[in-house]
Amino acid sequence: MSILFTPLRIGNLEIKNRFVHAGTYECMADENGYVTDQLLNRYKHLARGEVALIIPGYMNVHPKGKATPHQTCADSDDKIPGLKKLADIIHENGGKACFQLAHAGRQTKKEYTGGHAPIAPSSVGRDPMYLVKPRAMTEAEIEEAIDAYGKAAARMVQAGTDAIHISAGAGYLPNQFLSPYLNQRKDRWGGSNENRFRFVRETVMAVRKHMPEGMPLIMKLNAVDYTPKDGVTPDLAKIYAGWLSESGVDALEITTGTTVFSNMHMWRGEVPVNEFIRPLPAWQKPLAWLVLKNMVGKFDFEEMWNLKHANFIKPVLGDTKMFLVGGNRRVEQMEKLIEEGNADAISMCRPFIREPYLVKRIREGKTKEAACISCNKCVGAIVNNMPLRCYADGLPPKKA
Ligand SMILES: Cc1cc2nc3c(=O)[nH]c(=O)nc-3n(C[C@H](O)[C@H](O)[C@H](O)COP(=O)(O)O)c2cc1C
Repeated sequence: MSILFTPLRIGNLEIKNRFVHAGTYECMADENGYVTDQLLNRYKHLARGEVALIIPGYMNVHPKGKATPHQTCADSDDKIPGLKKLADIIHENGGKACFQLAHAGRQTKKEYTGGHAPIAPSSVGRDPMYLVKPRAMTEAEIEEAIDAYGKAAARMVQAGTDAIHISAGAGYLPNQFLSPYLNQRKDRWGGSNENRFRFVRETVMAVRKHMPEGMPLIMKLNAVDYTPKDGVTPDLAKIYAGWLSESGVDALEITTGTTVFSNMHMWRGEVPVNEFIRPLPAWQKPLAWLVLKNMVGKFDFEEMWNLKHANFIKPVLGDTKMFLVGGNRRVEQMEKLIEEGNADAISMCRPFIREPYLVKRIREGKTKEAACISCNKCVGAIVNNMPLRCYADGLPPKKA
């Protein structure tokens, strides 16, 4: 039997094989962040497809932190029944659920946050995607955000999640605090590595307080931010990873890139130029086209592109498990990764968009490689507020 189909223990949770559905924004919640039947249906198939641990799309913890119009939210108690349906459908079909906590910080627009200007540790830089220069958070807002993580975690636990995930990568609020570029505060939340780490440390504590003993806490951490000036770098990520391990984080996924400054590093492959341009106002299109065209060919798909960073960070992890994410495609390479001890689990995102039944097919010996071609039309679709699926054949035309 392939090593990929051996169980894995994380905290006191056992998952049946080594496959993890990496967090994937579905663009399927309703405009108020409630779970829909379309969302439930997606996860029914993934669980039936034998993915052992399913991390659905990032869930917003606070109204000011909403990142996208159809993001699932865990920011109020009335979201719990929908979240429970989501956990239930995953369980009924044989999977384990791991809900992901997220606060966009600066990576959003006023339209998504009920009119609030995007907030961040510091008011630095204007990002090239939303053209946002954020407002620096007050001390009270920082405490409020940490508290919101804890409260959202409590709702997730009540809804029946088996584990909790915090995104401290991809440029979201925790990542913004960890970055020496995006966090230029001089108070206790910035100015030194220890201070920049404080937000994440306190968030972990706030979340843990609401989790049952032994429930796994998993985190995504950037190894490189690729912001205009250095943010998190591999050396810094290694320091943070050591502290996360000491704080009792059970598993880490190492990733690169931020959503608004450098998102192609998050999903290497083709640059979906036309799809990215489509939702922009006419005046932005010519310049955006030039910028995006210039990016073509610079982010070509590389198998397991985060492995070098994961290997660099792994020695400080102690008992914390490593889930490798980014560019896992060939079964033979996945097996090698686990056999050689470089990772404990294989996290995948785009391959499951194309093939929800991929794991089952691998187990049955029907395939040796994911069919995903990393065309990134799925990313192009969500940018246009279209529900997630594989759009390798192109996006449908705009409705008149
Ligand atoms: C359409 C799409 C949505 C994503 N949404 C999330 C998300 O909600 N949370 C998260 O942690 N990562 C998200 N990611 C990043 C993926 O989890 C993953 O790190 C990345 O796609 C690389 O893995 P892959 O090569 O298996 O696709 C998303 C990626 C894509 C393509």
